Amino acid sequence: MPGSFHVQRLLAWYRANARDLPWRRTADPWAILVSEVVLQQTRVEQAIPYFERLLARFPTPQTLAAAPLEELLRIWQGLGYYRRAENLWRAAREIAEKGFPWTFDGLRQLPGLGPYTAAAVAAFAFGEPVPAIDGNVRRVLSRYFALERSSPKKLFDLARPLVAAEPAEMNQALIELGATLCTPRRPACEACPLRVGCRGRADPGRYPARRGRRVREWRLTALVLRGRRGPVLEARPQGPWAGLYGPPMDEDEGRLLARFGLGPDDARFLGEVRHGLSHRRVRVRVYLARTDRDGEDPAARPLSALARKVLALAEEVPGEP
Ligand code: ADE
Repeated sequence: MPGSFHVQRLLAWYRANARDLPWRRTADPWAILVSEVVLQQTRVEQAIPYFERLLARFPTPQTLAAAPLEELLRIWQGLGYYRRAENLWRAAREIAEKGFPWTFDGLRQLPGLGPYTAAAVAAFAFGEPVPAIDGNVRRVLSRYFALERSSPKKLFDLARPLVAAEPAEMNQALIELGATLCTPRRPACEACPLRVGCRGRADPGRYPARRGRRVREWRLTALVLRGRRGPVLEARPQGPWAGLYGPPMDEDEGRLLARFGLGPDDARFLGEVRHGLSHRRVRVRVYLARTDRDGEDPAARPLSALARKVLALAEEVPGEP
């Protein structure tokens, strides 16, 4: 079946149309690893400035391994999915200690590297003939071969021979096709180098079949405690914002207020803040109160995007609560 795949046409299209992206100009495995971790869950335009700032500050795994996680998080602020940053930091420490793993199997052992990222680094940096299958590539392959459902293993086995001759360029080309022409909605089939041979072309929206995914809602309460020098901030010990700072939050409103000696009437309700995470929607009820504590300057800490929204809501309330 893969014999009908027009590898040469896709490569020719890619060579003529590839976007000039900073991580495509390097063969440095560390730079490629950083780029792929940043690109997980992040759009290319948003990723570029972060990629450049990260590499300027941490040009080698050793430089990151020697820095505190908080310094990395400060640069990572606003990019979201902070677990990625923590994993990258752990990976840097492992690389600094044991050397760079230069195979797909070795890369998979690094913290935070799933099959996609490990394959991308193995193919781009070392030319290993393994397919890097992210959501975009899954869509391209599912359409081309008219597969409504397919396991990750099936796609991997199907794609492996396609990238065998030119692992780095073919993987980039598949990613590029999915990002620019074979888009989720209104794919540009008439411009596609694979239009001849694409079995899904008559009804691209059918492939791959959508998985029904319920988005769960997560309800939280945040307390902005205004101190003499600013709001009271806490480091989040765990969860999606582990290592970042923000106003005290809890799933249990009464417990949160009680932790600061406040009853239901001692704090002012300001409203709700909504925030999207990858698999959950967050709804945060925000309260404001004064405190004798010092508090601190939020600019000095790495904050989550949600913490910024909560603090911005409280900022709208002037003076004394
Ligand atoms: N998304 C993930 N990896 C990418 C890459 N190497 N180029 C463009 N977009 C990507």
